[in-house]
Amino acid sequence: MGISLGLVGLGMFGSMFIELFMKHPDVERLAICDVRKDRLEHYAKKYDIAETYSSLDEICQSDIEALAIFTQHWLHGPHVLKALKEGKHVLSAVPMAYSIDECISIVNMVKETGLIYMMGETSYFRPESIFCRKKAEKGEFGEFIQCRAEYFHDVGEYPHGLWRVLINRWGDLWSLDKTGDPPMWYPSHSICFPVSVMKAHMVEVSALGYIYPNDDFFRVDTIYRNPFCNETALFKMSNGAVAIISEFRRIGGIEVERVSGIYGTEGSFESNLAGAVWADKRGKGILKPEELKEWQLREPLPESLRPYVNVGHEGAEAYIVHEFVDSVNSNRLPRINAWEAARYCIPGFIAHQSALSGGRWFKIPDLGEPPAYRK
Ligand SMILES: NC(=O)c1ccc[n+]([C@@H]2O[C@H](COP(=O)([O-])OP(=O)(O)OC[C@H]3O[C@@H](n4cnc5c(N)ncnc54)[C@H](O)[C@@H]3O)[C@@H](O)[C@H]2O)c1
Repeated sequence: MGISLGLVGLGMFGSMFIELFMKHPDVERLAICDVRKDRLEHYAKKYDIAETYSSLDEICQSDIEALAIFTQHWLHGPHVLKALKEGKHVLSAVPMAYSIDECISIVNMVKETGLIYMMGETSYFRPESIFCRKKAEKGEFGEFIQCRAEYFHDVGEYPHGLWRVLINRWGDLWSLDKTGDPPMWYPSHSICFPVSVMKAHMVEVSALGYIYPNDDFFRVDTIYRNPFCNETALFKMSNGAVAIISEFRRIGGIEVERVSGIYGTEGSFESNLAGAVWADKRGKGILKPEELKEWQLREPLPESLRPYVNVGHEGAEAYIVHEFVDSVNSNRLPRINAWEAARYCIPGFIAHQSALSGGRWFKIPDLGEPPAYRK
């Protein structure tokens, strides 16, 4: 038996998922939805999809079981809460939400309803995360000491510059006072690495922000009141390790979502633009990209999605689709469930607060582990 699914938000990223859901053998019925008529008509025609909806409100009234929400990032909180309230299982693009209160409400709603919620974190399914999680499961890191991870996405004007992304996301509502989101409000691509590999969470943070001289984008007179284009946070973790997380939106030349090092008392992983290394007390070995990819290819994936393992964020999208569809279809807790997602996102809000206060240490609220799944 398959599931019925509605894809809400057919923008630059969301539209990449249409084909993946169509090809998944356990999606029996696929609908698409967008408030933008042009996008809705374009994709309905391109993929020959008959079932279309012109808003989240409208698709919530249908009998579709699950919604994949790929609307603008500041809308995820209210949109996910609306969908859960209407009894839908939810896959949401990152970030989980744009405030700690919204993250808490999502966790509470999932707890109350027993519905499935998953955040589609691409870093979770990158080959290097999968490799490091397998090493961690086998105890090959020993005790964890430190992790460094970063998400660098420059605001520059080149094809994937953040300017273009944000102007597109705001559309007709764009104006200069909408610029400059705090980098640490979008921290899941980097925080996912230490949290998912170490199976530990952030407990305290001290962060610093960098101010670009005469910045026209990150400014205190915008709706975000944020002066920082780059933020770096030092986290104490629940297992005694330290994580150094950098979220840069002004940086020359380097665009990455990367774990640059995870160090343990027995073994360590390092990566940079030149490649990756696993080192332990027996020696060091360069990890060729094909070797890392092998680890990803061992993850479960239906045959029909295999052609997509090199598309998008190193194929993570195909694995996200399968993890969600399979969770709904077999009524199991997804790996990036609401509690896990909160551990990737809540630390960022507190880190930004710390950066605004010049690096003061702050404690980080933790929403705990998921209860045994029930429905
Ligand atoms: N690596 C990653 O995980 C990654 C990469 C890119 C984007 N993203 C996330 O994915 C999300 C989508 O990104 P995008 O670039 O496609 O955004 P986008 O702005 O291009 O598209 C969003 C779409 O949602 C639609 N929408 C908004 N409100 C709606 C409503 N109430 N009902 C129906 N449709 C509605 C908009 O009309 C728009 O077409 C973003 O939130 C972003 O954070 C994640």
